[in-house]
Amino acid sequence: MEFGIRLKELRIEKQLSLKTLADTVNVNHAYLSRIEAGHISPSENVVRQIAKALGHDENELMILTNRIPPSWRPTIQKSSEINVVLNKVTVTEGISDIRPKRKSPNGKATNDLVFSSQLGNNDELFPKILSLYVKPGSNIADVTYGKGVFWRNVPSKLYKLHATDAQNGVDCRKLPYKDMMMDVVVLDPPYMHTPGGTAHNGHQNYENYYKNNVALNGSNKKYHEAVLDLYFKAGNEAYRILKTNGIFIVKCADEVCANQQRLTHVELINEYSSKGFIVEDLFVLLRLNKPGVSRMIRQIHARKNHSYFLVFRKCNGRSRWYGVN
Ligand SMILES: C[S@@+](CC[C@H](N)C(=O)[O-])C[C@H]1O[C@@H](n2cnc3c(N)ncnc32)[C@H](O)[C@@H]1O
Repeated sequence: MEFGIRLKELRIEKQLSLKTLADTVNVNHAYLSRIEAGHISPSENVVRQIAKALGHDENELMILTNRIPPSWRPTIQKSSEINVVLNKVTVTEGISDIRPKRKSPNGKATNDLVFSSQLGNNDELFPKILSLYVKPGSNIADVTYGKGVFWRNVPSKLYKLHATDAQNGVDCRKLPYKDMMMDVVVLDPPYMHTPGGTAHNGHQNYENYYKNNVALNGSNKKYHEAVLDLYFKAGNEAYRILKTNGIFIVKCADEVCANQQRLTHVELINEYSSKGFIVEDLFVLLRLNKPGVSRMIRQIHARKNHSYFLVFRKCNGRSRWYGVN
């Protein structure tokens, strides 16, 4: 069923006029009318507001607007009333099954794909990576959970999340888990080095948030080497706690340190590959806003406005990745 038709159905059920619902959701009523007519697709935020205003299951509406990745749908459907609505779609598919079979290429034609680069924020890209690499119900250790931004758009019951962070006294280099017990490890440590004693206030705040000073992280390495040291040691620990074929999702960014270009993502791929991980994917996230302006006499290197999500698999011999099943 199409989103617009369902929306109209629900609105009428609740005896709300277009104008009343539009006012509650804080959009123009002409815009809402175009959504109902199927002329435009609402943003994720508007879908959420509509679900709230109608007191209706947000997941169902997200699925109808194609906002939930296909691999998550069966799990979400199972646990909710939305089967009723989605079954209407299944019936149509059933009809097409009885037609005489013609030779046709495998797979469905679709634009509903996960792409390797994206303009936006972590909380928009991270769920897509999960949908591609992580089976619902998996045990996931997010070992640098921070404020949990990655998880903002991930339905809470979809995975078994084990969230830890240095802020709660759990070091990602020494995790409280047994060997080979996790399906997935997520790592997003501070990826820029400490600028040092003369750093201005902005940098110090940044350091505070990212907790990247050498003392806290107990390494005698400095600057970019300290950043790498943490990634490498956390990588060893991830390898230990991951099951064979487990997935290791790593967030990082490159940096220029002492006028030297340090391609962190390459350094990590080299290191982790030498430790038994195989790199399965690389995602580039382009930030929406411009990076802050700093005083500069002459620009030497390009200012970075992108970061990466790398996806590794704890590999067993020459096995290949065939996707979540
Ligand atoms: C970039 S933030 C993570 C943001 C997080 N991914 C989110 O979605 O909110 C980096 C985090 O790494 C944590 N951290 C720094 N050193 C750590 C360590 N040795 N072990 C575990 N966490 C560490 C910091 O406390 C901080 O919360």
